[in-house]
Formats: sequence, structure tokens, C-alpha cells
Amino acid sequence: MRDTKEKLSNLTIFLHWAVGLTIIALVVVGIYMDENEVFWLYPIHKSIGVLIFAVIIVRVYWRFVNGWPQLITGYKAVEHNLARIVHWVLIITMIIMPISGFIMSGAGGYGVSVFGLEIIAAQFDPIVKEAIPHNAALAGFMGETHEISGWTMIAAIVLHIAGAIKHHFINKDNVLRRMLGKNYTKTSSTK
Ligand code: HEM
Ligand code: HEM
Repeated sequence: MRDTKEKLSNLTIFLHWAVGLTIIALVVVGIYMDENEVFWLYPIHKSIGVLIFAVIIVRVYWRFVNGWPQLITGYKAVEHNLARIVHWVLIITMIIMPISGFIMSGAGGYGVSVFGLEIIAAQFDPIVKEAIPHNAALAGFMGETHEISGWTMIAAIVLHIAGAIKHHFINKDNVLRRMLGKNYTKTSSTK
């Protein structure tokens, strides 16, 4: 079933929350492990990052065959445009993040595994125990990309959540309710 103005499909809702909540967890873990050098978290961050990429591809494909959710009520053009820009930034960064992470780790010689299943072999110097990059320049560029795209994504997530809160608690409309799977025309007509 496709999305309608009154009700979003189960697939849209499932993909939004599965990807959205996983990404929030990856961002929190990514910053925490990087700032505090918590190395045991790296393989978990990388494994979940690779797995969620498969879901992200389905999510982005579905968004484009299905179209964006229709506007619930007439909002100011500036508000609508801001929401659209934020949605585009979220979609673009959710594609860049797993790809840049994968190439950063792979090219950097650290390897990529999904919960122990090796996808790109690590390459460590046996004496100094440091990774030997396959391509240091590429790894460095992808590391910068992961970081800049990560902070751009965080800014967009903050605006996005602020927007959802504003709609729900200030405008008191059905934007959040619809993303939670409610058919709001039915809800209001039974009141
Ligand atoms: C949607 C997926 C992902 C998100 C949202 C995400 C997010 C982040 C964030 C916000 C950081 C901290 C900022 C930084 O230093 O770059 C980070 C760090 C990191 N991420 Fe990811 N990441 C994702 C996928 C991946 C994948 C697939 C890999 C590797 C296979 C990966 C490897 C890393 C590594 C190695 C770091 C630490 C970088 C360092 O120590 O400088 N990430 N991630
Ligand atoms: C607690 C966190 C979140 C809340 C409360 C929330 C809420 C919402 C709501 C209410 C909508 C519907 C907007 C409309 O009807 O036009 C929406 C759409 C959207 N959200 Fe979130 N969201 C959250 C987290 C995220 C995260 C982390 C991402 C991506 C990284 C994300 C990406 C999107 C995108 C791209 C859309 C546009 C419609 C779609 O593609 O499904 N959201 N969100």
C-alpha cells in the first residue's frame, strides 16, 4: 500500500523509525567512541553501520517511488521549504555516512567486519601494532567526509526533531501522529 494524505503506509513508518532510531544510536556511539577512544565500540558501530546501509537503500528507493508525504495543512511556504531542505539533507547524509565510513576503515587498513564476518581484511603492522593503510589519502578524505557529513546530519536531526515537537505541541496538528501510524481523519471523526 502506498502513502495517502490521511495515512502513511506501514512500510514508510517502519523504515522511518528503524533507520531514524538506528542512526541516532550510531551518531551517539560514533562521537562517544571517537572522543573517548573506546575501541571495543568500533566493531559494533561499524557492523551496525554496514547492516543499516541495506535498509537505507530500501528506504531511499521507497521514498522516491512513493513520493514525499503530502502536506497535512497549509503552512507558510518558508516552513514547508525548510522541512523539505532538512528532509533532503537527512536523505543525502544517510547515504554518505555508511559509504564514507566503510571506505575510511577499509582504505585505512583497519578492515571492515559485520559481527565477526570479515568483509575487508585488516592490515596491522605486527611489530608496532598499527594499521597500514592501503590508501592513506583516500582514508583521510573519507574520514573528513564522515566527520563533516556527521555534523551536518546532527544539525539536520536537531531541526527535524524541533519541527516535529513544534507541530505536535504548538500547532497541535497531525504531522507526528501520522508518522506514528495513526489515521488522523478516523481519530478526529470518532471524537
Ligand atoms: C548511517 C551510518 C553511520 C553513521 C550515522 C555514523 C556516524 C558516525 C559519527 C557521528 C561519528 C563521529 C564523528 C567522526 O569522528 O567521524 C562516527 C565515527 C566513526 N565511524 Fe561512523 N557512522 C556510520 C557508519 C559507519 C560505518 C559503516 C563505518 C565503517 C565500516 C563507520 C566507521 C566509523 C569510525 C571508524 C569512526 C571513528 C572515526 C575516528 O576515530 O576518527 N561508521 N560515525
Ligand atoms: C525522535 C526522532 C524523530 C522524530 C520525532 C521524527 C518525526 C518525523 C515526522 C513527524 C515526519 C513526518 C513529516 C511529514 O509528514 O512531512 C518525519 C519525516 C521524515 N523523517 Fe523523521 N523523525 C525523527 C528522526 C529522524 C531521523 C534520525 C531521520 C534521518 C536520519 C529522519 C528522517 C526523516 C525523513 C527523511 C522524513 C521525510 C519523510 C520520509 O522520508 O519518510 N527522521 N519524521
